[in-house]
Amino acid sequence: MSAPPELPDVVRRAFDGSRSKGFAAFCRNETGRLLAALAASRTGTLAEFGTGCGVGTAWLRSGIRPGGRILTAELDPELAGLAAEIFADDDQVDVLAADWSTLRDQGPFSLLFLDAREPKDGGPDAIADLVEPGGVVVLDDFTPCASWPPVFEGRVDVLRERWLTDERFTTVEVMVAPDASVLIATRR
Ligand SMILES: C[S@@+](CC[C@H](N)C(=O)[O-])C[C@H]1O[C@@H](n2cnc3c(N)ncnc32)[C@H](O)[C@@H]1O
Repeated sequence: MSAPPELPDVVRRAFDGSRSKGFAAFCRNETGRLLAALAASRTGTLAEFGTGCGVGTAWLRSGIRPGGRILTAELDPELAGLAAEIFADDDQVDVLAADWSTLRDQGPFSLLFLDAREPKDGGPDAIADLVEPGGVVVLDDFTPCASWPPVFEGRVDVLRERWLTDERFTTVEVMVAPDASVLIATRR
């Protein structure tokens, strides 16, 4: 993938925090650049369920417009604390040490990066009401698949199938690298 090698400063700081904790479940740079580009197209409130150490948040922050806001929730208080330090002086980002569901009443969101297992597994039903019309949900960590229905490790990938067929969303699977794809679901 072509991309400048330099990372935004805020992303580098989030990587430093991740490294200090040995946390490696952050989004890859290809996904991060996609998050930044999508964030730049949004206004209002963006959300992330599953902050980790703040790498995805940092990519969103690198793209967000002036006046936009990012709310991100992380269940593990240690990880949330680390991410909160990165954005301590940033009035566009709030990191909550909390279950994702505490953000339910803060929506609807113009972009939702859905990156924690439980809300991800709930599929579109768990999320549809939290996204404004025209808003986008981003789900990463898929393995590209050209067949229909989508198959992963010899089984139909029911979650991916549900997102790609849910009538409340128009959804596309986008390859961000030869071995990685992302779903972008736009709320109708
Ligand atoms: C894949 S990591 C997130 C990576 C991060 N979004 C990034 O791009 O760097 C998933 C995170 O979700 C958190 N998590 C799991 N269940 C959660 C829940 N119910 N509410 C909030 N966060 C949760 C985990 O602790 C973990 O840090």
